[in-house]
Amino acid sequence: MAKLLYHITMSLDGFVAAPGDDMTWLSGLHAEPNPVVERVIGGIGAVLMGHHTYAPATTAEGEVYGGRWRGPIFVVTRDAAPSPGFTLVGDLGEAVAAASAAAGDGYVAVLGATTARRCLEAGLLDEVLVHVAPVLLGDGVRLFDHPGGTRVRLDPVELSHAGAITNAWYRVA
Ligand SMILES: NC(=O)c1ccc[n+]([C@@H]2O[C@H](COP(=O)([O-])OP(=O)(O)OC[C@H]3O[C@@H](n4cnc5c(N)ncnc54)[C@H](OP(=O)(O)O)[C@@H]3O)[C@@H](O)[C@H]2O)c1
Repeated sequence: MAKLLYHITMSLDGFVAAPGDDMTWLSGLHAEPNPVVERVIGGIGAVLMGHHTYAPATTAEGEVYGGRWRGPIFVVTRDAAPSPGFTLVGDLGEAVAAASAAAGDGYVAVLGATTARRCLEAGLLDEVLVHVAPVLLGDGVRLFDHPGGTRVRLDPVELSHAGAITNAWYRVA
């Protein structure tokens, strides 16, 4: 059965995108080999993303995993325009079901903070893998945003380093 994995790179101060969905801060940060990234990419059967992640992913520069992964991609959106290679789905539960079926026994990589939060709140998220990057952004899109606060317990799966990146992998308790 497929597992849903929130897979993302985060600044040390907890942001996954700079203001205005700016992702230029990621440039060069994954330059050194990271065996955890390679292992995860090899295990991904499908990708699930939100509209904000979809927009850059349709461009040559913003390809999913830099073009190193190919497979079915599902986008949860209420109003995005279609693009070849992406399946647009309006309902989160239907998108998760379709992505899980497509992934088989592999991972469904969840890309995009809002989409991951919605999966978590729906009790659908299994694991979180964050690559902590040595940069501070000060503002932007948070890894997990819940106004008023909440607590989600995570159990460690694997902690490691690759160059300046810290890999922090957890299971949702
Ligand atoms: N650091 C990394 O490794 C990494 C990886 C991936 C992405 N990112 C970045 O992270 C940012 C994306 O995060 P995000 O949280 O802004 O967006 P997101 O999860 O990519 O997409 C959110 C979108 O989900 C759609 N949606 C559908 N139903 C919804 C509902 N009921 N409630 C709320 N949204 C719903 C909305 O699009 P509609 O209005 O079309 O419905 C909304 O804009 C982007 O800047 C992306 O480039 C970073």
